[in-house]
Amino acid sequence: MEIFKQIAPLKAFIEGIKRPNKTIGLVPTMGALHSGHLSLIQASKSHNSLTVATIYINPTQFNNPTDLEKYPKSMEQDLEMLRNAGCDVVFSPNDFEMYGNSSLIKFDFGSMDKVMEGKFRPGHFSGVAVVVSKLFNIIQPDCAYFGQKDWQQYAIIRQLVDELKFDLRLYSVPIMREADGLAMSSRNLRLNQTQRANASVYFQALTRAKEALNKGEDLLRVKRSIKEMVDRTPEMRLEYLELADSKNLNILEGIDEGVVAILCIAGYAGEVRLIDNMFLVGE
Ligand code: PAJ
Repeated sequence: MEIFKQIAPLKAFIEGIKRPNKTIGLVPTMGALHSGHLSLIQASKSHNSLTVATIYINPTQFNNPTDLEKYPKSMEQDLEMLRNAGCDVVFSPNDFEMYGNSSLIKFDFGSMDKVMEGKFRPGHFSGVAVVVSKLFNIIQPDCAYFGQKDWQQYAIIRQLVDELKFDLRLYSVPIMREADGLAMSSRNLRLNQTQRANASVYFQALTRAKEALNKGEDLLRVKRSIKEMVDRTPEMRLEYLELADSKNLNILEGIDEGVVAILCIAGYAGEVRLIDNMFLVGE
C-alpha cells in the first residue's frame, strides 16, 4: 500500500499507473476507521483496478470547535485496517497541503443544505463540498464511494457532481450497523458505557417510525411519540426526526406516492451527536 502526504507525488503515482482500461475508485474518509468505512473500500475494490482512500479531518466542515478537537484519531490502526482490506493507495495530507494559507470559496446548495444537518450545522456542507471537490480534482477518480449513513451528504455531493460536471460515477453504500442496530460511526468511540447501551434508541426510533408511517399513522403524531421515546431514554436527546424526499431533500409532511422518502434522525448521546436514517420502503 502506497502512502502519500503530498499532492504532487500522489498525482505522479496515479499518472504513472493510469491506463485506458484501468479505473480508479476513491473513498474519502476522516479516519478513525471502522467496518462501515471498510465496506466502502470493498465496494471500490469490486469495481475498480485501483482504490485510493483519503484520511483527512477537514477543518472547514466542523462548525463546532470541540467536535473538531475531539475527533478521534488513530492513524496507525487506520493504515493497518486499510492494508488488510487491500486498499492500494492512501492520501493523508495536512491542512496546509489542502488549504494553503486561506480558503475563501463557499458553496450554497439552496434548500438542500438548510434543512436537517444543514440547519443544525451551518457551513458544514459547504466545507464538505469544498474538500470533496479538491479530492476529485487531485485524484480524478472514475468512481467515488460514500455511505448512506450520511444521506444528506450523499445527496448534496450528487448535486455537486451533476452541476459541476465532475466526470465520475457516485455510489452510495448501505449503512453498516452494530449488532444492536446502532449505525457504526467514529463518534461511537466517545460514548461511555451507559450512552453506548442506550444509543441504539435512534435505530429503534427509525424502525418504529417507518412501521407506523407505512401503517398510515399521521407523521406529526409519529414525530411526537418518537421524541418521547428518545427523550425518556437516559442521556439521549432528540434533535430532529424528518421525512424527506431522498433526492432533493425537500421535507415532507406525509407519505407522498411517487417520492422515494427517507427518514432522517439526529440526536445526542450525552455530548456526542449521532445521526442515522432509513428509507421508508425496502431495507
Ligand atoms: P467520515 O465520517 O470518516 O465517513 C467517510 C465515509 O464513510 C462517508 O461516506 C460515510 O457516509 C461513510 N460511513 C460512515 N459510517 C458508515 C457506516 N456505518 N456504514 C457505511 N458507511 C459509513 O463523511 C466524511 O467522513 C467526510 O464528510 C468526508 C466525505 C470524508 C469529507 O471530509
